[in-house]
Amino acid sequence: MTRISLTVDGTAYEDDVEPRLLLVHYLRDRLGLTGTPVGCDTSNCGACTVDLDGDSVKSCSVLAVQADGSAVTTIQGLATDAEWDPLQTAFHEQHALQCGYCTPGMIMAARDLLKENPDPTPDEIRHGLEGNLCRCTGYQNIVRAVLAAAAEERRRRAPAPGAEEAHAPGAGPEAAPAMPRTPASAG
Ligand code: FES
Ligand code: FES
Repeated sequence: MTRISLTVDGTAYEDDVEPRLLLVHYLRDRLGLTGTPVGCDTSNCGACTVDLDGDSVKSCSVLAVQADGSAVTTIQGLATDAEWDPLQTAFHEQHALQCGYCTPGMIMAARDLLKENPDPTPDEIRHGLEGNLCRCTGYQNIVRAVLAAAAEERRRRAPAPGAEEAHAPGAGPEAAPAMPRTPASAG
């Protein structure tokens, strides 16, 4: 047994694990985080994708002991009680799933893609998700969902209307007071 300590979805854990235990089995069987599925168990399908210290990894290809000292985020750590991740909302609204089995891995891989490229083209999305397989082959709506989430995140980052004017030179508190308006002529 080897002692590991790590953070998963914001919660700190310390556990004794077999050195051969895969991270995906640690997450599912030890922590009960079954939102991360096992598809192929051979690092082909991407269903088991999680974020490990900022990089998306296939958790069936990582040993739990390799995650010692790391921060892991699973699909279950993306949403807060108050709000879904924009990708989760977009997958829901764009019907980007059929059986849903590949969806957690798709969303985790897309999360990583949008971090690197906040404005991807459909081709860049297909390339970014090529390590994730959907057995239902419903790829079109998955691409649409990632485009929609990217657009929503860009919209959220954009300055609020009027914010630029408020920060424009001459528009601050030191700006000259506005001239009083001339009342409109009645005639
Ligand atoms: S279960 Fe990990 S890649 Fe398929
Ligand atoms: S929605 Fe079924 S495997 Fe992708």
